[in-house]
Amino acid sequence: MIDKINALLAEVDGFETQSMEELEAFRIRMLAKKGAITALFQDFKSVEPSQRKEMGQRLNQLKQSATQKVEQLKSRLEAEAAAQKAGKDKPDLGMPAGFNPIGSRHPLSVVRNRINSIFERIGFVISEGPEVEDDWHNFSALNFPEEHPARDMQDTFFVEKQPDIALRTHTSSVQVRVMENQKPPIRTISPGRVFRNEAISARAHCIFHQVEGLYIDEGVSFADMKQTLLYFAREMFGKETQIRLRPSFFPFTEPSAEMDVSCSLCGGKGCNICKYSGWIEIMGCGMVDPNVLENCNIDSNKYSGYAFGMGIERIAMIIYQIKDLRMFFENDLRFLRQFTSAI
Ligand code: DAH
Repeated sequence: MIDKINALLAEVDGFETQSMEELEAFRIRMLAKKGAITALFQDFKSVEPSQRKEMGQRLNQLKQSATQKVEQLKSRLEAEAAAQKAGKDKPDLGMPAGFNPIGSRHPLSVVRNRINSIFERIGFVISEGPEVEDDWHNFSALNFPEEHPARDMQDTFFVEKQPDIALRTHTSSVQVRVMENQKPPIRTISPGRVFRNEAISARAHCIFHQVEGLYIDEGVSFADMKQTLLYFAREMFGKETQIRLRPSFFPFTEPSAEMDVSCSLCGGKGCNICKYSGWIEIMGCGMVDPNVLENCNIDSNKYSGYAFGMGIERIAMIIYQIKDLRMFFENDLRFLRQFTSAI
């Protein structure tokens, strides 16, 4: 019996735990009704009277140690749990800083930046002009005759009680400002927001974005324009892209053309994006009308140039296969989060 007591004493002394469950199991194993120490008290009844005193003392000592151990460990574990809980409510100053979620650029900005950088690589510089324009820069200098039906091409928002002031209907107004202020050679692109009084639908909006291009120098030809636009189309839509120029009319260019690119989705075979034609119209262009050069004090006998203009929404819709223009303006995060770009 003495051996059993000593073995249990050693076990009690050596016992350590971090868990309440383990401590409870220890208590039951030692001190509960069917526990090891309780069992020894049963055995004690049959101990010889000569040994009783010493054995009784040892047994009581064992019971005391076990009870103390359980109480000590219990209060320590309870204190630790309380400290941990209190710590959770306080800020942990040692914690690594959280990262702010990084936003993504709007798809129209991504496309505008791509267009800009394609032209910047071949020497075009960016210029900007005001969104509220006068009649001269938006129409007259660009060879739109007074009362001419050509002005009906673009439904204008006029500023109240000031018939000469309007929201610009195209970024071509910026080319007038640049030509008025700079001497050729001029190589510039002008991205910006434009406004037209149109009913909002999947294909039209009263606010949209354009990029205007202008190149003026001595001896600039239609062939120069065609080559520049072919370079742009291939950078934008892929190396295999073909372009096609169709005759058109704009008051500020002569001759004028509209440019189509071969559909990059079906490779020109025909699909629902290109409406089974194999071609997608992306911009207007032409040789700057000599009247426009003269309006801006540039000698049309010495200088010639080309201009072009395209809608950013239209290019973005083609590239990302977006069927409804209104998506760009709704700020629906489920839509916007699909566009991530570093540029
Ligand atoms: N300003 C025209 C528009 O908004 C686009 C355009 C066509 C611009 C031909 C040009 C050009 O510079 O040469 O529809």
